[in-house]
Amino acid sequence: MGNSLECQKCFTTGGSCEIFRKVKFVQLCHHKKSRTSFSAKYTVNRLNVASWRISISIQMSCNYAEGLTPYKNKGKVGMIEIFDAPNDLNEKISLLADWIKNSKYTVFHTGAGISTSAGIPDFRGPNGVWTLEKQGKKPEINLDFNDAMPTLTHMAIKTLVKKGYVKYVVSQNIDGLHLKSGLLREHMSEVHGNMFTMKCNKCNRSFTSQTAVKTVGQQNLNISCLGKTKKGSLCRGILHDTILDWEHRLPYNELQMAELHSNNADLCICLGTSLQIQPINLVPFKAKKNKGKVVICNLQKTMCDRKADLVIHTYVDDMMKSLMGILGVEIENYDEKLDPTKMTNPTDWTIYEIDLLNMQDIKKDETKSKKRKLQDQIL
Ligand SMILES: NC(=O)c1ccc[n+]([C@@H]2O[C@H](COP(=O)([O-])OP(=O)(O)OC[C@H]3O[C@@H](n4cnc5c(N)ncnc54)[C@H](O)[C@@H]3O)[C@@H](O)[C@H]2O)c1
Ligand SMILES: [Zn+2]
Repeated sequence: MGNSLECQKCFTTGGSCEIFRKVKFVQLCHHKKSRTSFSAKYTVNRLNVASWRISISIQMSCNYAEGLTPYKNKGKVGMIEIFDAPNDLNEKISLLADWIKNSKYTVFHTGAGISTSAGIPDFRGPNGVWTLEKQGKKPEINLDFNDAMPTLTHMAIKTLVKKGYVKYVVSQNIDGLHLKSGLLREHMSEVHGNMFTMKCNKCNRSFTSQTAVKTVGQQNLNISCLGKTKKGSLCRGILHDTILDWEHRLPYNELQMAELHSNNADLCICLGTSLQIQPINLVPFKAKKNKGKVVICNLQKTMCDRKADLVIHTYVDDMMKSLMGILGVEIENYDEKLDPTKMTNPTDWTIYEIDLLNMQDIKKDETKSKKRKLQDQIL
């Protein structure tokens, strides 16, 4: 953290690191992949240490965007915010409460807009990272991910899942606030990654981290895997961050779970997302197959509003507070004891193949025998 000298790509810290000393500034960085992008920009010699760039701390929420590779087509940014008139708003929230009460399977789909009240800027809102970038500016608010706390909306969602009103949560967010809220792994897919999880390149298991990871773009964290092999020895894999870069495919198990639950849903509620990122923006509409409903609560218009059954324009925290009042459900407070980032031992954050199979047709004999084999593999 802070202003240390660090490689732009692999984040090896200058001076304090063995590898750094070995390269003695002859090469730009030991990390093969980073040489090309780095060498074009910086001339390195023994005296000019300052030619290493002063590190941007990826842990700062707006610098997460700077860690991604440059990409031109960022979609529509900076559209005006819309606010429903108070009477309309009350009617809409009451209707939504009725739909939730009568729903057999409700799934929430969340985006950056549910974390703006925690101090984490979104991308495309009027003060979003991409919007300001277009104007040559940067967000003034830029919270360290480690300091960010779950919002009223995160806690309300966690409460609704616990009380059985909501079956599953699909999030595009990488800030780890659903995890910190105490929402259990079995109830959520994080389709674009999570700053507080790490994934092994060998056994594919994921683990929680006490602090936000230092890289984005699924890079090597230089941390040995925490899992064990069938024989009981430590897995020899290396943990990587889970944050997707532009060109990365969505993690298969996360997306599968998101789709399976949304396929089952008769009500999908999208909160704080501009619904511009494909393919995840289409997943809530799987509920339509069951003649289900889609609701969008967002300040800006979204490109999916026309297909939605109800569009609510207000702050998500205000909407959730009223909704919980109508449902008569008290929002649980944040509890450190349920926050995996506060636990001494990392939590296994893997979605196992068996979890996917459980969601599919478990009655089929073929699936049953595959499940038995997979069960044996889990240590
Ligand atoms: N907190 C985070 O984890 C975070 C932050 C920035 C970007 N992202 C990344 O952005 C990408 C997806 O884009 P997205 O659609 O989630 O973000 P986006 O920036 O495209 O859209 C966010 C939307 O939320 C709305 N919004 C902002 N604050 C709101 C509030 N308080 N109440 C209601 N609406 C509000 C904005 O009007 C905007 O349309 C994902 O890849 C995600 O990982 C994540
Ligand atoms: Zn492993």
